[in-house]
Amino acid sequence: MRRTIDWADGAIVIIDQTALPAEFRLLELRTVDELVDAVKRLAVRGAPALGAAGALGVALAARMGGDVRADAEVIAHARPTAVNLAWGVERALAKLDEGADAVLAEALAVLTEDEELNKTASRHAADVVLAECPRRPLRLLSHCNAGQLATVGWGSALGVVWHLHERGLVEEVLVDETRPLLQGARLTAWELAQANVPYRVQPDSAAAAAMARGMVDCVLVGADRIAANGDVANKIGTYGLAIAARHHGVPFVVVAPSSTVDTKLADGAGIAIEERDARELTEYAGVPVTPPGAHAFNPAFDVTPYDLVTAVVTEQGRWTPGENR
Ligand code: MRU
Repeated sequence: MRRTIDWADGAIVIIDQTALPAEFRLLELRTVDELVDAVKRLAVRGAPALGAAGALGVALAARMGGDVRADAEVIAHARPTAVNLAWGVERALAKLDEGADAVLAEALAVLTEDEELNKTASRHAADVVLAECPRRPLRLLSHCNAGQLATVGWGSALGVVWHLHERGLVEEVLVDETRPLLQGARLTAWELAQANVPYRVQPDSAAAAAMARGMVDCVLVGADRIAANGDVANKIGTYGLAIAARHHGVPFVVVAPSSTVDTKLADGAGIAIEERDARELTEYAGVPVTPPGAHAFNPAFDVTPYDLVTAVVTEQGRWTPGENR
């Protein structure tokens, strides 16, 4: 598959994730405003892909001239939770004094590295899963989308599935639909179908019941930010999954490139959690599903305490808190 996000002819080109699975459509983003809008609408999403978006956004701003640092600030704050966005912005911005070409070269390096790092991290994580879970073939549970679409290429948590599937070791993936924006049902299921991996979609609320029935050997998730003590911010519902996994003795494995570790934050309490528009809950496909005027609590992410996590795995292997890398 082509890269989720790339650079071509002076524009950022993304796979429009709002259109999948109905339509595979590319979007060309030619201004910083268009990029910021795409990030806010989740046309490009997932922590590692947002890192690439941040870096390419600065490259776009640098080519256009203007106040690049002010543009960079706007890009870095388009979404608050995934540390990768600001990280990508900072990496590209560090080259600004060397000119627009140097900024672009750095952004393209972020893209190339992303694919390599996720491939390596997910290979290490596949080894962890095989060590933690005796049953073969494996029944895995996925939440949100941590696949190719959430990265430049390959994927993090879903990347583990690709490695294991190549070895014939996957019986099925239970895919949490991931309310309210359905990244699991729309995107993860689409990726699994493309790769011919057996899967079933389930309501998020079925995950604990699936574990209780002994249908899950391992929970695999990505991360948007990992604090220095190992607390993990990821898609809303991840924390509940971790509690259920612990209750049922199911390993809970987090896979992310090390750029997702925010060593500046002591623990998860300091992670900014994005709250999204109430209409994501009060409407379904534009049709109201609540009484008029209903208020909503719509956090996009939650924080899983590290003591519920079996392993955090990066491209450097199993990561433990205190490792400053
Ligand atoms: O709101 P989203 O779709 O950007 O949320 C994405 C997630 O929560 C992913 O699990 C996370 O970014 C890791 S992706 C490799």
